[in-house]
Amino acid sequence: MMSEKSAEQRPTLEQTISLGHRRLHPLLRDSYYLSLIERRKRFAEAVKQVPGNSLRVLDVGGRIQPYRPLLDGRLEAYIAVDLQRTELVDVLAVGERLPFAEGVFDVVLCSQMLCYAEDAPKVIDEIYSVLRPGGALLLSVPAILPYHAENDRWRFSPGALRLLLSRFSRVDVSPEGYSLLGACHVVAHFVDSFGENTLLQRLVHFTLIPLINLVGKRFDNWSRPDTSLSNSFFAFARK
Ligand SMILES: C[S@@+](CC[C@H](N)C(=O)[O-])C[C@H]1O[C@@H](n2cnc3c(N)ncnc32)[C@H](O)[C@@H]1O
Repeated sequence: MMSEKSAEQRPTLEQTISLGHRRLHPLLRDSYYLSLIERRKRFAEAVKQVPGNSLRVLDVGGRIQPYRPLLDGRLEAYIAVDLQRTELVDVLAVGERLPFAEGVFDVVLCSQMLCYAEDAPKVIDEIYSVLRPGGALLLSVPAILPYHAENDRWRFSPGALRLLLSRFSRVDVSPEGYSLLGACHVVAHFVDSFGENTLLQRLVHFTLIPLINLVGKRFDNWSRPDTSLSNSFFAFARK
């Protein structure tokens, strides 16, 4: 049972929506800016490829739902599963055991969650099962990203993604940015750790990080098509 303390700490609906908004529209001073702007592009392109205007969507790891607004006006249902509770979570469960019948969803979103799973192949098996034939999985996974938590367990190359998704009938894997963007993101992440909660960190947020982000965004095309340092990969897979 959740303690009173942790219940108090649970973010309000407004705070969670605002966090999602900041992931969809990150500030230039955000050390995740480069990753997030690329991820938004991939999700926005992918949802355009999904037909239909009354979609049943499942978000696995859907505590924050940054990409839900991209489906506005096209939803019959949007169900969020997560092992952490927020006001946006409908079902408290793990991706390794999705409590739904076979083939009930048109679309599954799974963004930056698979790296935390104890059993990533099992999560993909469960997603495959709950998707209807022809349904789509929109999956974003980290490849080169500083690890940041004890349960941050896995990184995925394009080859690993194709292997995990080999049961799907069509799989398109694309990088979320090329190598220069990836390198800049890692540097931004590193300098962000300078002097936690100090004047130095504020200074870094308003000077160095925006500068690194601008360089990564402006010049990433120079590193194209190299993806060896890409931070994350995106997969669009059809059942
Ligand atoms: C980095 S957050 C990503 C949130 C959001 N999808 C996004 O893209 O911003 C990862 C989420 O996955 C959830 N998560 C981690 N392991 C999980 C599991 N095995 N089953 C379900 N959710 C899990 C975490 O609680 C967290 O909310």
